[in-house]
Amino acid sequence: MNNVYIETFGCEMNKNDTNIIKSIMLKEGFNIVSQFENANAILINTCSIRENAEKNIQNRINYLYSVANSSKNDNNKVIIGMLGCMAVQLGEKMFKSSKKIDLFVGPDGYSNLPSLVNECLAGAKKLDIDFKKKEHYDKIETYIDKKEIYAAVTIIRGCNNFCSYCVVPNVRGREKCKDFNSILKEVDDIVKKGAKSITLLGQNVNSYQQDDINFPKLLEEVAKRNQNVRISFLTSHPKDFSLELVNVMKMYNNICNYIHLPVQSGSDRVLQDMNRKYTINTYISLINSIRAELPDVSITTDIIAGYPGETLEDHQATLDLMSLVRFDSAFMFMYSARQGTPAFNRRDDVNNVEKKRRLNEIIALQSKISAKNNQSEVGKIISVLIEGKSKKYANQLVGRSLNNKVVAFEYGGSSARVGDVVNVFVEIATSKTLIGRQTN
Ligand code: 5AD
Ligand code: SF4
Repeated sequence: MNNVYIETFGCEMNKNDTNIIKSIMLKEGFNIVSQFENANAILINTCSIRENAEKNIQNRINYLYSVANSSKNDNNKVIIGMLGCMAVQLGEKMFKSSKKIDLFVGPDGYSNLPSLVNECLAGAKKLDIDFKKKEHYDKIETYIDKKEIYAAVTIIRGCNNFCSYCVVPNVRGREKCKDFNSILKEVDDIVKKGAKSITLLGQNVNSYQQDDINFPKLLEEVAKRNQNVRISFLTSHPKDFSLELVNVMKMYNNICNYIHLPVQSGSDRVLQDMNRKYTINTYISLINSIRAELPDVSITTDIIAGYPGETLEDHQATLDLMSLVRFDSAFMFMYSARQGTPAFNRRDDVNNVEKKRRLNEIIALQSKISAKNNQSEVGKIISVLIEGKSKKYANQLVGRSLNNKVVAFEYGGSSARVGDVVNVFVEIATSKTLIGRQTN
């Protein structure tokens, strides 16, 4: 009665939360199974960031429920648990109405998961979507799935920023920092298991603070102690990005030359409505100061198309900003109204066809800019950490450069292995990939 199957949707943080869940379940004697057909409990770690994420997950849950329970009766029914952001966003309502889901647990409730699953297996229906004030997963040794070359460590969970469109503060609660020494220990453990690249994760890593340790100090300590490991971080809010951080990046060769700095829109009016707390001028000055100190830095962003009230001029301002900043790549989304957010009360007045048109224009422009930026890498020799074999070409390996570009190269004859760092001479560039040959 104790086989658990877990499926994860959404961001890197959710993937890491699943490792916390696995660790908690294993400690209490549950087995983690890799096929849902063998499970007594199916747990889905969910994402609420946009409506289509929620819809996909609902469909998946319906499918899992019908297949897993097709030959079962009430006594040997497989229980289904909705974990994470959707449990908070929809749990209270669905707890009353859903016949398929037995258990709803939010991102701060995983310590109780073993007993909640046991109660559900005994026939109960459970809901635990409360938030904790402080980080309480510090002492849990996060489960490490396999010998991962690229790994992540969560340093801060939740968000205090309340951007008008974003459901994260509602579904993940306020910022909670992981204890500094626990972070160092988790990094050590992961490195011992073979990781060669570690990303420090948070909705807003720059808000990290424990006593006098702020994010630049934490990053410096992690980089100093692990000089043979690449260190990166995700995500930064432009309003909190400091030059102290840029200086730390400059001092350590093993800190990746890569910054994800979501801008969301190129229009001051929209930014103000979004409660982003910066203007386009301050954003551009920040980019200029970063590039002055770190000339080869790669900067990526997030952009939302069709925010309520976005005019054609606002949209054009976003395109203009993209042409000016020339991001290396971008995650681009159509605005999706989320219940409980401040923008939900605004009229979602850019219709879907127009939203899609604006998004496509943004994607097409970014694709051109990415291709052109990548073109400037052609002819260079760059250092690549090998991630695995290419899915496209049997004779190619793929990895990442220090500035987070995907690099593919032929490995015929070379003894390079996953986890090695090799030099690659870049011969061709597309908007997504650099292609070259190994030189050592
Ligand atoms: N609609 C569309 N995109 C959103 N994001 C966050 N909330 C929404 C929403 N309601 C995007 C933002 C954020 C990224 C993680 O997801 O661009 O930076
Ligand atoms: Fe959402 Fe804004 Fe917090 Fe990012 S910073 S998680 S966009 S509220």
